[in-house]
Amino acid sequence: MKHLLSTQDLSLDEAILVLDTAAQMAATQSREIKKLPTLRGRTVVNLFFEDSTRTRISFETAAKRLSADVINFSAKGSSVSKGESLKDTALTLHAMGADAVVVRHWASGAPHQLAHSGWLGSGDSPVAVLNAGDGTHQHPTQALLDAFTIRRHLVGRAGGATGDGVGRDLKGLRVAIVGDVLHSRVARSNVQLLRTLGADVTLVAPPTLLPVGVETWPCATSYDLDETLAHWAPDAVMMLRVQRERMSGGAGAFFPSPLEYSRRYGLDHRRLAMLPGHTVVMHPGPMNRGLEISAEAADSTRSVIVEQVANGVAVRMAALYLLLAGGSPAEGSAI
Ligand code: CP
Repeated sequence: MKHLLSTQDLSLDEAILVLDTAAQMAATQSREIKKLPTLRGRTVVNLFFEDSTRTRISFETAAKRLSADVINFSAKGSSVSKGESLKDTALTLHAMGADAVVVRHWASGAPHQLAHSGWLGSGDSPVAVLNAGDGTHQHPTQALLDAFTIRRHLVGRAGGATGDGVGRDLKGLRVAIVGDVLHSRVARSNVQLLRTLGADVTLVAPPTLLPVGVETWPCATSYDLDETLAHWAPDAVMMLRVQRERMSGGAGAFFPSPLEYSRRYGLDHRRLAMLPGHTVVMHPGPMNRGLEISAEAADSTRSVIVEQVANGVAVRMAALYLLLAGGSPAEGSAI
């Protein structure tokens, strides 16, 4: 792997390598001294053209735990506000000696352009590009941390067991992804990765929040959340944020109305009680409490939402390690 741009680019073996490496990273984080010397002398730039809390802080934490130098760049307050292009921003970062660029951008495809335009070095960029979310396209490290969380939680229900009892892949698991699929890079990334790992996925959404062409995606679709929960019995229910800022008709305007949406597609007390005992509740964050998920569901004992955030650090450490240090850690190694 030279870059991490899309979950579509990951083979089963590559996806499992990232998840296994993340497990080793997580093990190092439970020790007293969390910092590893692995990326000493390397520079990671966080290049964020869209707001973020979890992804930006998590990548920064991950890079620092691997001893890399970190530069945080936010479009707000930079020369981008004076009209500087992505190309000139990239040329500037390259001149400053970046080894990896973690990019979040409102434009779908911006990370791909950075990786293959030559702006970060000639030809296919020698600087590793990691996609931290581009438009409505992809958010691969979110999908990887989601798969990592599912794998950890559903021990014995998925795939062939590895040494630590965790399933190697996610074969046989059912994951329902619920809500605003239309605007969700998290949904796109997850559908592809979960299928690669062998899980079965059902997207549940109102027809107005499903993208054109969804029937070609490798998953089932439903308009009926109650029916899916009652009869399909998912092992994980992943709620999506309603992305009002990406909806036309002005921020906050969307169809169905918030009340109707919450009644038909919100995860609340009643729907929580319909889930099998082992089923976990997920959300990539940030949440609209009271819209797609009730406070009771978000804070319930089934919720692994805070754990998803913690796992994000281990997964991003693994991604940076594999892209910048190369190869895979030796069996049983502490990295
Ligand atoms: N899940 C996620 O991408 O959250 P942030 O927008 O806070 O990074």
